[in-house]
Amino acid sequence: MSTTPTKKRLLSGMQPTGAGKLHLGNYEGALKAWVRLQDEYEMFCFVADWHALTTLATSGQSINADAREIALDYLSAGLDPEKCAIFLQSEVPQHAELFLLLSMLTPVTWLERVPTYKERREILADREGGEAGVSYGLLGYPVLQAADILVYRAHAVPVGKDQAAHLELSREIARRFNHTYHVDFFPEPQAVISETTGTLIGLDGRKMSKSYDNAIYLTDTADEVNAKLKKAFTTPTRLRMTDPGVPEGCSVCQLRRIYDPNGYQTQWDECRAASRGCVQSKKETAEILNAALEPLRERRKMYADDPAQLDLILKQGAQKARDTAEDTLREVRKMMRLVNVF
Ligand code: TRP
Repeated sequence: MSTTPTKKRLLSGMQPTGAGKLHLGNYEGALKAWVRLQDEYEMFCFVADWHALTTLATSGQSINADAREIALDYLSAGLDPEKCAIFLQSEVPQHAELFLLLSMLTPVTWLERVPTYKERREILADREGGEAGVSYGLLGYPVLQAADILVYRAHAVPVGKDQAAHLELSREIARRFNHTYHVDFFPEPQAVISETTGTLIGLDGRKMSKSYDNAIYLTDTADEVNAKLKKAFTTPTRLRMTDPGVPEGCSVCQLRRIYDPNGYQTQWDECRAASRGCVQSKKETAEILNAALEPLRERRKMYADDPAQLDLILKQGAQKARDTAEDTLREVRKMMRLVNVF
């Protein structure tokens, strides 16, 4: 595994949801950028399976199969285990140790102000069990996230807008640690915002999301993509081919824009002019999308057919992560006077 010391360090991760597999929106919004970043940074890329327990611990659901599925998605998107350590969070106990130590420095009031916590709390309070569903682990979610980042002393984290508050808290915790122990030890991690293609429209015209059942998955076969596009919502006011289309609100036209950046304009113009019908646009777009997804499918098949290789990749990734994280912890234990250094 290559480690060029001059490269800055970057950490990226996703939380499994309990429902497996990632969709095109996840790919466009995150993974695609990660694949580019792996050449620029020394990269650590993990699956946040402990974080998943903040919502799944009491469900009795097994998280491991799901976590491996996400790792497969990383690999099929093109993350290269030679360039980037790919691993599961739960294989690196140093995340937990730093989480515990940082929790001693984190005021509860900081955590109670985090928007994601407030939202979840409201949702849970309305359910059976109410407040009892709000665990100590849920409150500590952002501290664990800070530990994930700081344990590698990462400079950069590619995150979407929804994670901005968590990253800000990671910076505050880093500052507080440095200030408390009069050190300049943890860099304040910066967000790497990728120029995104915008929120992907799902097949029913709403935002693409697993919970709306309107997504195209990286695991979908060509036939599945064809069938999904055939049924996709286009312009609601375009009942006949002679009615003009509105590409801005059409799921098929939006996919076309992303996957056919040089050719989409003609299709959009003809859609607006009602000279190209939705059936034709869907068929063409499905072909274009399938061509784009083919390399991902091939890589996925290669790794899925060889579980021992996936095991090895995750094992080697976790080993590198543990070694790097342990270097940090050794220093942290000293600074916090947990070991005799004088
Ligand atoms: N909270 C992130 C999410 O919901 C997952 C995550 C956990 C993460 N730890 C992280 C992301 C550290 C970036 C860095 O997707």
